[in-house]
Amino acid sequence: MALGRLLQRASINQISGRIFPAFERSFSAAASPSEPIRATLFPGDGIGPEIAESVKHVFNAAQVPIEWEEHFVGDKVDPRTESFLTWESLESVRRNGVGLKGPMATPIGKGHRSLNLTLRKELGLYANVRPCYSLPGYKTRYDDVNLVTIRENTEGEYSGLEHQVVRGVVESLKIITRQASLRVAEYAFHYAKANGRQRVSAIHKANIMRKTDGLFLKCCREVAEKYPEITYEEVIIDNCCMMLVKNPTLFDVLVMPNLYGDIISDLCAGLIGGLGLTPSCNIGEGGIALAEAVHGSAPDIAGKNLANPTALLLSSVMMLRHLRLTDKSDQIHNAILNTISEGKYRTVDLGGNSSTTDFTKAVCDHL
Ligand code: NAI
Repeated sequence: MALGRLLQRASINQISGRIFPAFERSFSAAASPSEPIRATLFPGDGIGPEIAESVKHVFNAAQVPIEWEEHFVGDKVDPRTESFLTWESLESVRRNGVGLKGPMATPIGKGHRSLNLTLRKELGLYANVRPCYSLPGYKTRYDDVNLVTIRENTEGEYSGLEHQVVRGVVESLKIITRQASLRVAEYAFHYAKANGRQRVSAIHKANIMRKTDGLFLKCCREVAEKYPEITYEEVIIDNCCMMLVKNPTLFDVLVMPNLYGDIISDLCAGLIGGLGLTPSCNIGEGGIALAEAVHGSAPDIAGKNLANPTALLLSSVMMLRHLRLTDKSDQIHNAILNTISEGKYRTVDLGGNSSTTDFTKAVCDHL
């Protein structure tokens, strides 16, 4: 199908996801080259620095009026954050209100606080928005995926409250609050309305977790009543997985508690070709937006110039849309889609043999 027709069907707004006014901080949309917007950049770990370099190249080539304030993961714990992220890094995001984040590795079972959890908690990044759509010209099992997962980002199974009851018995607390559930549900419905979407599906397991997921659903229902123009439905998580792999077009916007969101959004990434292609944006209190690729630090390919920078590039497009730098975001978005659709330069994860830098150069040439 021609790129033009596909883009028509899923407008760029729908694809990149406009963050709507009620949740926006007011940035000077009138940013001029003489007055660039400051944004925080965390290159992160593993392949992070390589793909962050790719974004910087493309932004330079497209003359995007962004001035990066780069922050790196430290090598010792900052007592003020109890993690390897410094207080100054967090202050940078608070001050700028916007940023882009590369993947950050979390050593399993090493005892210190996860960097991603620190960012989400400290900055109140309560919703993770992950658009997932078929890329024109890149053939997968499905041609017409166009959905958005919205994941509650601050509580649920990720409360970090785990302890040993007695030897051989441990407990992990799943926390669901009315406040956080209403906030993410509100965001999902506003998002659907602002982006011309028709349906919001709340994903749950309330048949088993009656109290926690039951409260989540109750909050979604309350918010749904305020949006009679949007169809609301509730789908049990296991059935949702089956429906997604059978026919992803059944879904439009999906909203769900933390762990389900983590799993379902990776499942959705698989529908369109993998983690190298899927962007996201974290929305926080006071209109903070921290865009990040869905994937991790990919230690198996780090430092080899093999990483696909598409997911982080598309995340940077979401950041630019949030800043209302629409011309620049559209220009970069189209250049990425055209490069992939042309098929001449594709990274190894997409079956090609291009390096990160070859692909980046091709995107710049398509601007
Ligand atoms: P991963 O996403 O890093 O890698 C999974 C597989 O996908 C690997 O084979 C990798 O090579 C491939 N892959 C991922 N991104 C790619 C890209 N851009 N281009 C080409 N191939 C790509 O997941 P994994 O291995 O489970 O996690 C590695 C580390 O990343 C862990 O420490 C984990 O905690 C962390 N992580 C961080 C996240 C974040 O910062 N938001 C999210 C997920 C994991």
